[in-house]
Amino acid sequence: MAKISLTGIKPTGTPHLGNYLGSIQPALDLAKDYLSIYFIADWHALTTVKDGKALKSLIHKLAATWLACGLDPNKTVFFQQSHIPELAELNWYLSCFCAKGLMNRSHAYKAMSEENKAAGRDVDDGINMGVFNYPVLMSADILLFGSDVVPVGSDQKQHVEIARDLATSVNAALGNVFSLPESLIREDVKTIPGLDGRKMSKSYDNVIPFLSPPSEMRKAIMRIVTDSKLPEEPKNPDTDNIFNIFKHFAEPARIEERRAQYMAGGVGYGEMKEELLATLESRFGAARATYDDLMKDTPAIDKLLASGAERARQLAGSRMDKIRKKFGLR
Ligand code: TRP
Repeated sequence: MAKISLTGIKPTGTPHLGNYLGSIQPALDLAKDYLSIYFIADWHALTTVKDGKALKSLIHKLAATWLACGLDPNKTVFFQQSHIPELAELNWYLSCFCAKGLMNRSHAYKAMSEENKAAGRDVDDGINMGVFNYPVLMSADILLFGSDVVPVGSDQKQHVEIARDLATSVNAALGNVFSLPESLIREDVKTIPGLDGRKMSKSYDNVIPFLSPPSEMRKAIMRIVTDSKLPEEPKNPDTDNIFNIFKHFAEPARIEERRAQYMAGGVGYGEMKEELLATLESRFGAARATYDDLMKDTPAIDKLLASGAERARQLAGSRMDKIRKKFGLR
């Protein structure tokens, strides 16, 4: 039987280069050899997105992004998480096997509660139960479909470990219910910096979108923070944010050429920003045209997601029958 690759992305903002390198591209590479199950984690988005119209639009944008980047809906099971009620059911079963302390130690929750503490607020100020239970729902996503590998960014590694822990506890109590998933983290892209040099992340407002109109890409790229060295001065490419983004997208020979010029002196940051823009344009220009076309017909996107959900529910349904039996519910 083919091995299963599964991943989800939350529709919470405009897809950016960090999403592309960390999740989309590795997932699409795996789709060549694995039975691939890729979805839009709209239930997870609800922890932060409270505006229905906005969420609907974010879902369409994310779906169009996956498709424009090359996801083949005939070869991949592609759907919205909220179309699979079995996930909510499994979420409950797993929550009954999940020690509360494990969630207290989950990075995302811990970071928020520690920030509260540091600011002198109640530890749980502004934290909803969706945030607290987030790793359990994510475990349901991963375990329901029997995933073998889960391509994710390094920030999601702990979540996959939690899925393994929960699977192990259930298996210990009820026999062999779940297989143990592995996270697949691309070490080479772990480090893509955002505009300010911190990790590229929507929550830092430092992202470069990649299917947005060229004017928006330009605006973002011009904001990339550099030191104030003049063009003729030698520079360290490895500490420059422009170079550290550029090196993921340019041709290897060009990267080496630019690296040498940085070190010798003779290349300016302004010129590098223009080249980065042109490089991204040649890499993503065609995908953007596809994306724009897809976004003109969102009912067609909905239809595609609905048929993906049908396939996903076929897979989910037979597994769920077994799981209910193992739990003693049938
Ligand atoms: N938590 C992931 C993120 O923030 C999204 C996600 C939800 C996911 N369910 C998943 C990723 C299952 C991998 C597997 O990006």
